[in-house]
Amino acid sequence: MKNSVLINHQLKSFNKKMFVSGDKSLSIRWALTASQAIGASRGYNLLESDDVKNTLKALKKLGIKILKKKNYYLINGNGLNGFDYKENLTINAGNSGTLARLILGLLIKSKKKINLIGDKSLSRRDFYRVIKPLNLFGLKIKSKNGKLPIEFQGNDYLTPITYFEKRGSAQCKSSVMYAALNTPGVTKIKAKKSRDHTEILFKHLNFPIKIKKSKKFDLIEIKGLHSYSGFNYRIPSDISSSAFFIVLTLLSKNSKLIIKNVNINETRTGIIKILKKMNAKIKFRNIRKEMGEKVSDICIESSKNYKSINCPTHYNTQAIDEFLIIFLFAAKAKGVSYFKNLDELNQKESPRLKIACKFLRMIGIKIIKKRDSIKIYGKPNLKLNGNYIVKNFYKDHRVFMMSVIAALTLGGNWIIKDMDSINSSFPDFIKKIKFLGAKIN
Ligand code: S3P
Repeated sequence: MKNSVLINHQLKSFNKKMFVSGDKSLSIRWALTASQAIGASRGYNLLESDDVKNTLKALKKLGIKILKKKNYYLINGNGLNGFDYKENLTINAGNSGTLARLILGLLIKSKKKINLIGDKSLSRRDFYRVIKPLNLFGLKIKSKNGKLPIEFQGNDYLTPITYFEKRGSAQCKSSVMYAALNTPGVTKIKAKKSRDHTEILFKHLNFPIKIKKSKKFDLIEIKGLHSYSGFNYRIPSDISSSAFFIVLTLLSKNSKLIIKNVNINETRTGIIKILKKMNAKIKFRNIRKEMGEKVSDICIESSKNYKSINCPTHYNTQAIDEFLIIFLFAAKAKGVSYFKNLDELNQKESPRLKIACKFLRMIGIKIIKKRDSIKIYGKPNLKLNGNYIVKNFYKDHRVFMMSVIAALTLGGNWIIKDMDSINSSFPDFIKKIKFLGAKIN
């Protein structure tokens, strides 16, 4: 069946070392930041997925020269707002919320009208969250219900803002940070903790940025109109892609895996902290700093007797992209796991909390769902032998990958549709699964 995978074998035990692809958040940030530098920047180990390709395509349409070399990408920036494009340009962000939200901030000074569009999944997502602060800088934006398509136009008369980011959204924070870069004066941000890749990159490049951290919030000040030269950057592997292989190893019998060179930025390692509290054997080895980011090899060993968790909510933003696979793990843990304050999960590529509930019920797991919480009644001996079909209405890459891990660890006969969804974050996913010995048609 075209664009579906058929799985009717559980994965046998394995003991391997592997790499996963480059980090998506860092790949997009490198490209956007390099586009504003003066001169050439090289990006090594860039993730070659649709979200990143759409970023490069958008920048090319804006007049930035980009070349693919043998083992790196080359971006030739023309300095801040050094774009050259025709009036009424259309930028298609495809499936990528990160690209769509960050590029709006980046283009705050660009005077010719631009239309921003996306696919069916992105077109259902909220853009008010970035429209509001960008309006305050002086960006003119037209949209229906705060959703794509959006028509917008930057200008030269921008004023810095004081912005309170309450959601814990790194996309909102970063969109404002890119706008601040193009605005004279000092922009001040108070942001609920979320991934801090943009801050680390700006610091690494010696931008005039001040950061004060407290337990729940970070205070960030950026002085705009700082020009900078091209820079080389090596992107480590993505912990969100690694997450599927971590849980695959934990739920397989007598298996071990080392995933090399993964970004373990503190704001992204919620999954590790959660799984460890549930008795998972996971270790970081060879921890080092690269380009200001923490990187390490991750060693995983399967075991038995996983236990449930009452998940502390301060892990939510640190694990926001990993909850689907964490819920699957909780389905195999002893006891009742409880995850709460997960409103944002329904704002992702698909309404993930709703979809997770449907999926868990389909495989015979009792759950209790409230508006923004879920209780999962784990079954450590869960074994499946029925037929299961997963149709992925919004083509959510993470729904597809979580379903494959379920099929490979729980048994049963599976048809999992919309394989092409993996192209947005992890095109090599099937190849890597096969490398571990999986039989997939
Ligand atoms: C991202 C931030 C998160 C995450 C997304 C990538 C980023 O979104 O879910 O996959 O690169 O900044 P929010 O900031 O909206 O929570």
